[in-house]
Amino acid sequence: MSKRIVVNNLNVYYGKFKAVEDVDMVIEPRSVTAFIGPSGCGKSTFLRTLNRMHEVIPGARVEGDVLVDGENLYGPGVDPVEVRRLIGMVFQRPNPFPTMSIKENVLAGVTLNAKHLSSSRKDEIVEKSLSGANLWEEVKNRLELPGSGLSGGQQQRLCIARAIAMSPEVLLMDEPCSALDPISTLAIEDLIQELKETYTIVIVTHNMQQAARVSDSTAFFNIAGTGAPGKLIEMGPTEKIFSTPDNQQTEEYITGRFG
Ligand SMILES: Nc1ncnc2c1ncn2[C@@H]1O[C@H](COP(=O)(O)OP(=O)(O)OP(=O)(O)O)[C@@H](O)[C@H]1O
Ligand SMILES: [Mg+2]
Repeated sequence: MSKRIVVNNLNVYYGKFKAVEDVDMVIEPRSVTAFIGPSGCGKSTFLRTLNRMHEVIPGARVEGDVLVDGENLYGPGVDPVEVRRLIGMVFQRPNPFPTMSIKENVLAGVTLNAKHLSSSRKDEIVEKSLSGANLWEEVKNRLELPGSGLSGGQQQRLCIARAIAMSPEVLLMDEPCSALDPISTLAIEDLIQELKETYTIVIVTHNMQQAARVSDSTAFFNIAGTGAPGKLIEMGPTEKIFSTPDNQQTEEYITGRFG
């Protein structure tokens, strides 16, 4: 169920500005890949191109290929809505729909795609997704209460449950813990370890310890200066990137001697 992603020669533009240049990358299935690098180097921009989410930003466009198990996401006739079902995304700020209950939040995407689900099938999806996100025990007795009434860490797990409910094969996470306390952060990290048994996971993080703890592979991005495009400098096994990277820029970044 988990998919291998191959990126060839990818450039991303906002209007005339080239934000990311010439990325080649392989993301292995059933593994966690971390993106690290200084602010503005294009991590979020690049991440969004892995499920065509950038297409909702006016002026954003892509050159190059993203192959998911050999199929080009940007090929003719590929439906971006289906791409986003297959490749789910979790954002920096937990964003449950405030007027919806916990249960409705989990089902939000599912019911858009499949209008006629029996209520028992819905209950099944809700329990399975919340269990998968490690939230079921905490909320099973208050499924009808608003999602916005949960703590920040619970809200983030609710958003992960909402993504899981769509039965994706890949999960993209853009700094999913940056708004969370250390305990909730560890809960999400544990969850990521469990989820990688099933999904291909990509996580953007500014927290180097987090990248070192949760990821199998790490990709370091950098920019040469203001206005220059972000580039992938080096990618490899996390252990190697954090101990003996090949590139001097990577070395400077991971040892904090950056800039
Ligand atoms: N919607 C947008 N329109 C125009 N330019 C944008 C847009 N989003 C990002 N950019 C620009 O693209 C470049 C890369 O931004 P991006 O948000 O991808 O960086 P990042 O590595 O995720 O940074 P951070 O670590 O701060 O989140 C930056 O120069 C940014 O100003
Ligand atoms: Mg970002």
